Amino acid sequence: MTVNNIDNLLHETRRFPPSDEFAEQAVATRELYDAARADREGFWADQAKTLLHWHKPFTQTLDWSNPPFAKWFDDGELNVAYNCLDRHVEAGNGDRIALHWEGEPGDDKSFTYAELTAEVKKAANLLTALGVKQGDRVAIYLPLIPEAVIAMLAVARIGAVHSVVFGGFSAESLRSRIDDAEAVLVITADGGYRKGKAFPLKPTVDKALENDADGNPSTVKNVLVVERTKGDVDWQHGRDLWWHDEIAQVDAEHVAKPFPAENPLFILYTSGTTGKPKGILHTSGGYLTQVAYTHKNVFDLKPETDVYWSTADVGWITGHSYVVYGPLANGATEVIYEGTPDTPHPGRWWEIIQKYKVSILYAAPTAIRTFMKLGRQIPQQFDLSSLRLLGSVGEPINPEAWVWYRDVIGGGTTPVVDTWWQTETGAIMISAMPGVTTLKPGSAQVPVPGVSIDIVDERFRTTEPDQGGLLVVTQPWPSMLRGIWGDDERFVETYWSKFGPTTYFAGDGARYDKDGDIWLMGRVDDVMNVSGHRLSTAEIESSLVSHPMVAEAAVVGASDETTGQAVVAFVITRASQADAAAHEDAANVLRAHVAAQIGAIARPRQIFIVAELPKTRSGKIMRRLLRDVAEGREIGDTTTLADTMVMQTISKSMR
Ligand code: WT7
Repeated sequence: MTVNNIDNLLHETRRFPPSDEFAEQAVATRELYDAARADREGFWADQAKTLLHWHKPFTQTLDWSNPPFAKWFDDGELNVAYNCLDRHVEAGNGDRIALHWEGEPGDDKSFTYAELTAEVKKAANLLTALGVKQGDRVAIYLPLIPEAVIAMLAVARIGAVHSVVFGGFSAESLRSRIDDAEAVLVITADGGYRKGKAFPLKPTVDKALENDADGNPSTVKNVLVVERTKGDVDWQHGRDLWWHDEIAQVDAEHVAKPFPAENPLFILYTSGTTGKPKGILHTSGGYLTQVAYTHKNVFDLKPETDVYWSTADVGWITGHSYVVYGPLANGATEVIYEGTPDTPHPGRWWEIIQKYKVSILYAAPTAIRTFMKLGRQIPQQFDLSSLRLLGSVGEPINPEAWVWYRDVIGGGTTPVVDTWWQTETGAIMISAMPGVTTLKPGSAQVPVPGVSIDIVDERFRTTEPDQGGLLVVTQPWPSMLRGIWGDDERFVETYWSKFGPTTYFAGDGARYDKDGDIWLMGRVDDVMNVSGHRLSTAEIESSLVSHPMVAEAAVVGASDETTGQAVVAFVITRASQADAAAHEDAANVLRAHVAAQIGAIARPRQIFIVAELPKTRSGKIMRRLLRDVAEGREIGDTTTLADTMVMQTISKSMR
């Protein structure tokens, strides 16, 4: 439980029904709920047929005969990229802007649907020329530049599988993802821009592709390099190729071939409770159906007039579902921005909204809280009157931030939709429908039509209001993950074993309120949520103990005013680090070590060098107590500790 602190909940009791003006023009209506309730599968079949183009129509909606392995629209065939591109051009919308790209240094470029289609066709031909075939895996390690979108769609267009790795991840993290998926190609750039500086990417790829500690080469045959920063790069001839050189040599025409609905579309790695990230597998027809459906209805999309902006990077699931596939399947005009919100000035986001007349904004609570701290005078310098809908994702949005978002950014009139979902769910699962739902700050509210959610106790009984329990999905949904890449056992064990093979266990705590609205309460496992990004305590712990200085480590997610949670580590060092200065040095070295091993997002906010860790008699670290320390709270019940004095020792050593 992070930011849903009691103060906020008690103070904000306002409700926001849709205005008549908004409701009258809204895409989503009550009928959507009625239709889904009357015939859930029929409802999804209708969505799939109306939202997508099928080269071969499906006759079966859902095959759930072998749970938890689902097949949606199994005998249908489609091409995901065709759905996101060509068909809009063929429908006469080729001149509509698909992408407005804004680089961090202020350079920009826009692509119409016709232009984006042309780029993706060439890129598809290039991939084919490099020997990439249906089912092959392609790693994408790029900044948020147009080529990231083009590369993903080109991979999809030829029926191959992309694995996008966020550009902030280290060489080691990149390599483990390449190895796990046995990727044959990496698409990267010389570098990208962040915080006013060019940061290199190609050297990280070079490092990732070196022979590993056992002398094993990687599976990668080629590296395609986009020129972005013109920084110096080392070149491995025969392996490395410049994107612009190669693209200039391929045919411009490419006909999109249909692939089965269950053809794998992408793998995206996310943190779990163990050290090893999970390769979440998504497939084509069901995924595209639900991302298009939710993008259209939750964001009230009018593709002819709206300008939509999701601030997410394509390295995360939000960037897959609500930067690439959802908006483009719907023929939307969207903005993508390469850089950080505060570069070169703290009003950069608002300047972008003003420049492109953004009407729908989808962002994370962390960002909202950061802007709140900076003060309303910054956004108030810009014309934000184009905005008509705001979305939130990644972690609970506290009512105070929700209201600030609506008032200051949304001019006191826009609906704010808080959307709950996960890498695994592929698409939004819980959210208000603007125009239908009376909004309640702080609550994600209700399942979207077609999705079945419950909050249950350990014995699988629906919980009473305000009781709190475990969030589960009780019926299969089209964009559900189809597995963990190469690890069916872990897939079944992690998500489908707690309550049997037909109930999806999300790993989140939640409660109903008296109106039946859902409030998310944070993870119930050892997964942290820092700025809306998922991090595993185990992964950071194993990184810490891999350092020769460290004997033992325990990591907790401590609540943080801005980032929701922050990584706090408790470390026992090998050498006796007597004085405080040595502690500080050690802490800095270890913070840098974690950043280098996993990526900057995993860098602990604080590392405390301690003499002991609190453990139960069976040797399990009691993170609950460490969280108390990290959050400056009175330490809770210590009776199950093997050594009840240990917490006093820890608290003392921290002063
Ligand atoms: C976890 C999933 C979904 C895209 C970004 C994160 C938390 C996500 C909300 C929300 C409360 C939320 C959950 C979930 N989460 N959205 N609106 N309210 N919590 O994707 O990295 O797969 O993380 O993020 O804890 O399990 P992810």
